[in-house]
Amino acid sequence: MRIPEHLAIIMDGNGRWAEQRNLPRMLGHHHGVETAKVIIEECRRLRVPYLTLYAFSSENWGRPDEEVDALMSLLNTFLERELQSLLTHRIRLNVIGSIRRLPAPVRETLVQTMERTASNRDMVLTLALSYGARDEIVEAARMLAHDAVAGLLDPSEIDEKTFSNALQTADMPDPDFLIRTSGEMRISNFLLWQLAYAEIYVTPVLWPDFGVVDLHQALAEFGRRERRYGLTGGQLQHETRE
Ligand code: IPE
Ligand code: IPE
Ligand code: MG
Repeated sequence: MRIPEHLAIIMDGNGRWAEQRNLPRMLGHHHGVETAKVIIEECRRLRVPYLTLYAFSSENWGRPDEEVDALMSLLNTFLERELQSLLTHRIRLNVIGSIRRLPAPVRETLVQTMERTASNRDMVLTLALSYGARDEIVEAARMLAHDAVAGLLDPSEIDEKTFSNALQTADMPDPDFLIRTSGEMRISNFLLWQLAYAEIYVTPVLWPDFGVVDLHQALAEFGRRERRYGLTGGQLQHETRE
């Protein structure tokens, strides 16, 4: 099985999973957290070096207060509960997004978990929290503009690498594979710059139902994709023969 270097997942469909069962949406999120645990552990077992999960978008702040509050406390419990497992599996926790918008207790747990797992080397687990790609890109542009005005950076020297390094994902390779559950064919403001050449896989399976078998199916499909980067199929065959 070809293993992506950086797998990114849009974990969608918790609400619909619950609504289909006439349950409160929050129960869908609770089941979604259990799915996340299973998928994190399977990715670690398969030796995926980087796993990034879209857990809460900058737009998700617009949901009803009760749902936002419940999601924040769910996140906090998850982090506290999983610390031991992250340490056992030598997984380093990383976060991208506007962390300052998160409630203080969640922020503190995040910082502590990142510190405690900082020396782990077997997998980097990044949670995108309060994350919006446009925010991230604007922030990077602002940072570069400040440096230019301060005379630290020559604007004519700004290239793709400079720009990538100004993003929150500076120390990670771009995702080569994106999975979105629950059928929506959109990116929803996730990693717009970094997904430029990612293979995209959308499954109708709702996130709480997404299991190890579904992950293996997705990875099998990834293995069948021909990644062309703008070249022709013929050129790629030539390259692999060389
Ligand atoms: C994804 O599930 C989790 C978050 C966005 C926090 P949703 O809550 O978006 O589920 P649907 O899309 O309403 O089914
Ligand atoms: C994307 O899901 C964000 C997360 C999975 C955290 P949404 O449910 O918020 O996206 P839309 O509203 O369908 O675009
Ligand atoms: Mg959704």
